[in-house]
Order: sequence, then C-alpha cells, then structure tokens
Amino acid sequence: MCGIVAAAARRNIRDILMVGLYALEYRGYDSAGIALQQDGFLARQRAAGKVKELEALLEASPIDGHCGISHTRWATHGKPNTQNAHPQTAGDQLALVHNGIIENHAALRNELRESGCEFNSDTDTEVMVHLIAQLMGSGLDLFAAVRKAIGRLRGAFAIAVVSAVEPGVVVGARRGSPLVLGIGDGEHFLASDVYPLIAETTRFVYLEEGDVVALNADDYEIRNESDELVTRPVKEVEVTIDAVERGDYNHYMQKEIFEQPQAVAETLEGRLSASRVLPNIFGVGAEEVLGKICQVHIVACGTSYHAGLVARYQMEQLAGIPCRVEIASEYRYRRPVVTDDTLFVVISQSGETADTLAALKHARQAGYTATLAICNVAESSIVREAELVLMTRAGPEIGVASTKAFTTQLVALQLLVLELARLNGVDETRYAGYVADLNHLPELLNQALGLDAEFEALAAAFIEKEDALFLGRGSHYPIAMEGALKLKEISYIHAEAYAAGELKHGPLALVDEKMPVFAVAPDNTLLEKLISNIEEVSARGGELYVIADSKVVSSFGQRHGHIMGLDTGGPLLSPVVMTIPLQLLAYHVAVQRGTNVDQPRNLAKSVTVE
Ligand code: M6R
Repeated sequence: MCGIVAAAARRNIRDILMVGLYALEYRGYDSAGIALQQDGFLARQRAAGKVKELEALLEASPIDGHCGISHTRWATHGKPNTQNAHPQTAGDQLALVHNGIIENHAALRNELRESGCEFNSDTDTEVMVHLIAQLMGSGLDLFAAVRKAIGRLRGAFAIAVVSAVEPGVVVGARRGSPLVLGIGDGEHFLASDVYPLIAETTRFVYLEEGDVVALNADDYEIRNESDELVTRPVKEVEVTIDAVERGDYNHYMQKEIFEQPQAVAETLEGRLSASRVLPNIFGVGAEEVLGKICQVHIVACGTSYHAGLVARYQMEQLAGIPCRVEIASEYRYRRPVVTDDTLFVVISQSGETADTLAALKHARQAGYTATLAICNVAESSIVREAELVLMTRAGPEIGVASTKAFTTQLVALQLLVLELARLNGVDETRYAGYVADLNHLPELLNQALGLDAEFEALAAAFIEKEDALFLGRGSHYPIAMEGALKLKEISYIHAEAYAAGELKHGPLALVDEKMPVFAVAPDNTLLEKLISNIEEVSARGGELYVIADSKVVSSFGQRHGHIMGLDTGGPLLSPVVMTIPLQLLAYHVAVQRGTNVDQPRNLAKSVTVE
C-alpha cells in the first residue's frame, strides 16, 4: 500500500525522506515521488517503478530542502505512471501525498473543473490538492484549509501537504489510514508507520482518527475531528534498526521464516506457566468476559483468515465451543445474526487492513459480548478499536508474504483455545498436556527448519510448473490453503488447496503426470482417509509430495511419490510445524524462478483500502 514520509527540520531532509521511502518499500508500491520547499516554490521529482528510479532522477537533478513530503504509491485510481505518482500539485505552490481512497472524488472533480481547475492526473488524490489550494486562495492558512477541505471528503485517507507560501510547515491528517508523528531534536516527521523513521527518532505520537497536525522544526499542534486543540501521548518505540534490516539473509522472507522459533517463543513468553495459560493475558477483566463465552466468531483476511480456520478446528475439538470463521470483506457487508455470549475475534498482522478494521467496527455495533484483536502491531487501528487484545510478538514483518506473523497468530489463537477450554471445564490432565506441548513448539520449529536444504533441492523440480494442488484434512486443510497461497503469491504459480476428501468431487479431473500435488499428513485419526485420497492421485499418475509426521512415514510407499518426514508434536502443534516446509517450498521455488520474493507484483503488505 502507499507510504508517506515527511519532515520539517533545520538540515537537508532529502536523504531522510529517501531512506524512509526505501524502508516503506515492503508495503508494496509502483511509483515514488518527493517534493521539497525551495525559496518561493516547490520542487518535485517523481518516477514510475521503484524508489531507486526516483533516486537516479535525484542524482541527475538534485533537489535539497529542509521541509518536504515524499510517497510510494500503490495505484488505485489511474495507471502506475509518473503522471499519477504523488506528490500531486496545484501549480508549483502546493503539493500533497495521500494514502487511501477518496470516494466522492468524481463529484469534487466536476465541481472544481467548473470553477476553472485543470487536472493533470487520473488520481482521486488530485481533487484534494486543488480543493486545499482554492481554500488557501480564499484567505485560509494551510492548516485551516486542510481542516476545512477534509470536511468535504468521503473515504479513507492519510495525507501530508506542503505549501510554498508557508516555509517550514507540513500539515498532515488521518481518517481511516494510519499516520504517525515522529519527534526529533529540533525536527519533526510524519510517516505511515514508525519503520521509515527509526533511524531518526524513537519517540512517536500515534495520530487518532480525524486528527489534523501542523508541524515545523520546533513544534507541532494537533486538532481533533471536532477541531479542538488536543494533546496526544508521546510513546517510546522499542523497534531497533536490526529488527528491520535483512542482515545476512538473502530476503526478508527468508529471515522471517528462520525467525519463527524465536517469534513463537516470544509470543508464549510470560503467557504460560508450566501448567496453565496465565490469567488476563487478553486484557484486564478478560477472564470474567471469556468465562461467559459460548460461541466464537473469527473474521480476518488472507493468511490471517487461514489462522482463524485452523483455530476453528481446535476451538471445537479442544474447548468444545462452536466457532465460525469468515472473510472480513464478506462479513462487513452482512447483517450478522449474533447469538448470546459470542466473542468476536479479528486477526491481523498489520492491524490496519481496511476490511478487517471495518468488520471490527461493524461487530462493535452488532451485540457481541466482547471483541478481541490478535495483532502484531501495537498502536495499530485494530488494536485501538478492540476491547480485548492479544499481541503476537513476531517483530516487524517486512516480506509481503506473511510467515512469522502466521505462526505466531496460530500460537496466540491456541492460547485463546486453551483458556476457553479451561473455562469450559476441559479435562485437567489433557489441558496440562497441551500446555506442556506448547512449551516445546520453538524446538520443533527449529527442527523443521532443518529441512531447508531438502526443499531448496526439491524446488528445482517446480520452476517450470504453472499449477499445483495442495491437500489436507481437518486442521491441516487450512495449512494446505496457506501453502497454496504462499506459493502463488511469491512464485506466481497457480496453486489451489482442497480438503482432500473433496478431490473426487471435481479437482481430480486436473490430475495428470504433470500436476504436482502436495499433501500434508499429520499423525491423526484422519490419516487412513488421507492415504485413500492420495491413492486417488497416484492412480492418475499425479506427481505426489507428502509432508508427513515422522511417526507415519512408514504408512506411505514408493507409489506415494516423494515423502518427507518431520516431528510435528501432536494435534495442537502439528499445524504450526507443518507450515514451515510449505513456506520453505514457496520461498525456494520463488527464488529459483527469479521473482521478487519480498515484494511480489501487484501485492501490498498493509492493505489499507477496500
Ligand atoms: O495485516 P493482515 O494480517 O490483516 O493482512 C491480511 C492479508 O492481507 C495478508 O495476510 C495477505 O494475505 C498476505 N500477503 C499473505 O501472505
């Protein structure tokens, strides 16, 4: 998704903005631009493509300045070309960058055209800059003009604006898209998240919905949506530069795959005793709320949705509590029938996914007993909106393909399952066994990572493939879905997952000797059924790869193709451990196909538009 970096300082800020734009690359984008205040005008450079194209332009025609804005754009309205890149401007006097979507841009465009404005792009953004310019023309200063202009906008946005007639001033606003204010020593910054600024400061103000901020090098002023002057808390952020650097790894995704034992250990840290999930890890008073819960409704998107699907099986099987799981973009436009004592759970790595956030807001009006967010980004919109919160502690996830966020979500959900199981009177010995199992998970993940070389070698067989099938049953069906999603998003191989029992109801028609089929085979009561489904594939000559728990490897024969065994640690842990080989497979196939592993085409890390 789009990213903003802006600064007002006493030094040249060009490099600060450029470093910030590189740090925002992980969000996904297709053009970049910068505008810096000069003496009486604004200088702008924009480039389609990557930040390095913008950097090349700046090397050829350098512009410097102490105050300015910059942006990475992920195209929504209009092609990803230079003309549509941000900053969008009104002449050489006003420039604006924008994340989000202005829904009433067409009506505003017509109105502005009638009053003589000329448009130079296909973007929804350009209406804002003309609207603000018009208001400044009627005598308002930049801060007042932005406040007035946003009153006319429908949709979601975070913006940063500079004017040539107000040297040293940047104005920002947020509604529906995140924006943080960074506080430096005699300088201030704005950005979409903290990562582009952590080389400059660790002190941040998280702007609230509807806030508008005016900043200069010395000071800043925030007004809320009612136009009242407000003070927001300044927070010290603990993210280090190391956490967002690639280190010795070839890709962020590779680093993040290998960080999983540690990320899971941190997600469990302080939340489990030797025998139980500790009370109130979901927030103050959570134990009392959760004690009432008779149903759970989980809503999320993409990989986070897959985590929810795994939890459904475990919630029903271990806690005996009915659980529904739904995609946020569907849920948000439904009128849900909410039964008594239902807990609503959203799962999101970024905490900013527009559909998931809207679903949570929708749920808060719908009469659930409580809302709980499982999230990886503290201070994100979703964390603020939910009543109860359980943070995954995966650390910053930069690769667009979610890896450590997913496995830590699975673990966080398992803590919820176990807590609800305990409150629901599960057998104590069984419960204590699951808790003990969880403590072994990091070790099992480490062992699974030992398969890396095997998957690297295996990947060579797939680089020419265009399709693949993934099969699983029970709580491993969503793991097959996640394996297929990983492969398709980073290698661009078309991959689909099926509940293995569904194979004969249609997808079996696709199976021939060219079709790779991956099956996930845990040590559980569904094993025989799965083997029968796998037989259906081998009988049609399909190219089979079975990832099996070591204890059941001997159940497979040569006709079942390539069998890889690993210790998966029983029903609670197995979906988490089985995820690792599928991530390794996707990673190595993508690397060998030469795709952009960390920033796959057309995708964004944080999907802040609908
Ligand atoms: O930040 P979120 O967890 O809410 O994001 C949801 C999806 O956009 C995300 O999981 C997406 O599917 C990933 N690219 C998958 O790797």
